[in-house]
Amino acid sequence: MSVPLSFDGKVVLVTGAGGGLGREYALAFAERGASIVVNDLGGDIKGGGKSSAAADKVVEEIKAKGGKAVANYDSVEEGEKLIQTALDAFGRIDVVINNAGILRDRSFGRTSDLDWDLIHRVHLRGSFQVTRAAWEHMKKQRFGRIIMTSSAAGIYGNFGQANYSAAKLGMLGLSNTLAIEGQKYNIHCNTIAPTAGSRLTQTVMPPDLLESLKAEYVAPLVLWLCHADCQENGGLFEVGAGWIGKLRWERTQGQILRRKAQPVTPEAVRDQWGQICDFSNATKPANIQESLQTLVEVLSRVEAEDREPSPMDAVGQTLPEMTFTYSHIECILYALGVGMSTKEPDHLKFLYENNADFSVLPTFGVIPSQASMMSGSLSSVPGLNLDMTRLLHGEQYLEVYKPLPASGTLTSKASIADVLDKGSGSVILLDVHTYKDQELLCYNQFSLFIVGAGGFGGKRSSDKAKSTVDMPNRAPDAVVTDETSSNQAALYRLSGDWNPLHIDPDFAAMGGFKAPILHGLCSFGFAARHVLKHFANNDVSRFKAIKVRFVKPVLPGQSLQTEMWKEGNRIHLQCKVKETGAVVLSGAYVDLHAPPELSPSTAPEAGELQSDLVFAEIGRRLETMGADLVKKVNAVFVWEITKDGQICSQWAIDLKSGPGALLKGPYSGKADVTLTVSDQDFMEVVQGKLNPQKAFFEGKLKMRGNIMLSQKLDSLLKDHAKL
Ligand code: NAI
Repeated sequence: MSVPLSFDGKVVLVTGAGGGLGREYALAFAERGASIVVNDLGGDIKGGGKSSAAADKVVEEIKAKGGKAVANYDSVEEGEKLIQTALDAFGRIDVVINNAGILRDRSFGRTSDLDWDLIHRVHLRGSFQVTRAAWEHMKKQRFGRIIMTSSAAGIYGNFGQANYSAAKLGMLGLSNTLAIEGQKYNIHCNTIAPTAGSRLTQTVMPPDLLESLKAEYVAPLVLWLCHADCQENGGLFEVGAGWIGKLRWERTQGQILRRKAQPVTPEAVRDQWGQICDFSNATKPANIQESLQTLVEVLSRVEAEDREPSPMDAVGQTLPEMTFTYSHIECILYALGVGMSTKEPDHLKFLYENNADFSVLPTFGVIPSQASMMSGSLSSVPGLNLDMTRLLHGEQYLEVYKPLPASGTLTSKASIADVLDKGSGSVILLDVHTYKDQELLCYNQFSLFIVGAGGFGGKRSSDKAKSTVDMPNRAPDAVVTDETSSNQAALYRLSGDWNPLHIDPDFAAMGGFKAPILHGLCSFGFAARHVLKHFANNDVSRFKAIKVRFVKPVLPGQSLQTEMWKEGNRIHLQCKVKETGAVVLSGAYVDLHAPPELSPSTAPEAGELQSDLVFAEIGRRLETMGADLVKKVNAVFVWEITKDGQICSQWAIDLKSGPGALLKGPYSGKADVTLTVSDQDFMEVVQGKLNPQKAFFEGKLKMRGNIMLSQKLDSLLKDHAKL
């Protein structure tokens, strides 16, 4: 249970506490241990008359309940006297609730000087007088809580309340500044705009509503804002009917109308009115510094117009928003573009929209964002001075926050995260965030190398860059070889990269290539799906992120060889052209989410496995020939046997120590090779029906660790093939 808020030892002044909201506050504070000064002039609602009865009655009520209270009958205009009452009676002042109020409603034309002045004197000047009298005491004791009572009439305006609206919003301005000046003394000032049935509202609200909007619904907010634990300062709250909401300012992006050699004209204001008032992408300046910052930026932007724009000016610039609408057709086309084929039964879920498990390849996430690069808007960013013919796609990072939907309209927002000076060229880091409605689906970072655009005095590296990572210094845990077709680029370009370099021989020749080259992002897609299949069983929900560096081009028709290293949930990878051995993707990795926990209820019974019989036989043979095998093989093999895609038994064959041993269950030592295979494929290998190498390259047999050792295992298994 949470601790109740106590005001023991605190002295609270509530102005206008003889009735309405003020009375509720006074009673509520007193009930929680505070000593109360109940102030009320006891006049009528228009500010006429005077009586001590109202305040006395509330003091009596508090005392009757065992609380501590004194009355004060002065007008808030004499603030010093109210504070003196607190000091005389209780020796201090901790909380001031500026609540006293009157109304003198008139339509604006009929508002007299007296109507105006009286309202201002009670509400605004009265709050000033009372608060100023308390201020130095609060500063000295380094504690104070102040409430200003504003009104919806001030925030929004209300017919017939020009005087009252002006004074009430004046109190918000006063509160905003007190919040700033008081902060370092632990004096907090907040403003409320309450709605409650009272004598002030009985003329404007129907009786039923008046009755149901109880003043007691407002007091809890006031108490919390005034508690020592509450750090809120400078806030504005609407409160009523048991509901509380906070308000703040919102500002449009606005529009710069001035040019260096061109003044602002009223016509320009008229013509750009739409943008000036457009609240899309509105900002919420929280303080005057944030507000002024915009003006400073405007000044420097207008000032910068004269000098030669530098690539550094491009940093932070945003490109026009792009939308991308697609259906399963685009998803399937992309899957074909990155080499998916119906030849592989497990590719069907990416190629056939009626497949029960139809999924979108995670790397499809680059497609909605690439338009930001292709649309030409990048070349119009001031300072970039971009010649698209000198642009090379250097690196790519993609992070996917949830599996991509099979259809929809996505919005991509691109901005220039940084521009680096590499001497021989520049690197533009283009960040693109892609959303479905408001939800962020994926993030891409394109690293674009612009040949010959360096030497502008910029920095060489950036903390904004998603970096490549060196692969481990050991043989890969898995290698997958895949052919690209001679039409691979012709097919891939249909996903939206129309650069003629990938289709037009003459254009390719101009770029110095003997034939049109494959898209870097196509090889990227190949590599990503190799990892997804090999290490995540094609489960797209496990794909988190991918980073690659594009090193050399690939020609359509060449074979791609993806070498992979598993390090926890990170799969390092490198891609080569098999025919030439040239590395084409380097420093690359895919990050996977950890696999879901294997639930015992869904795991098949280990007893049902055929492989159990084989391992039992291996165990028997080890007893007779184990020592010889240890000499010959000198390695520990761990087998993970799967059924329906889940690991359901584990065996370790220890041919490294002693006479050799067979151990069942998870192996706690270091395995030299870990082999994962289904129960059925294992049996086929053992019975000689399936060649282990073939099983490996088909992805049926997965190996981690020193896979060269598996050749020794090959002979071991063959020995047992007679089983
Ligand atoms: P209320 O009329 O019941 O309470 C105001 C109290 O202030 C009265 O008891 C009155 O005698 C006292 N007062 C008036 N002039 C004074 C002076 N010069 N010095 C000392 N006391 C004086 O009205 P209610 O509704 O409780 O209003 C409290 C505050 O809330 C007011 O500031 C009002 O403007 C504000 N407010 C109320 C709303 C509502 O829905 N009740 C809506 C918006 C604002």
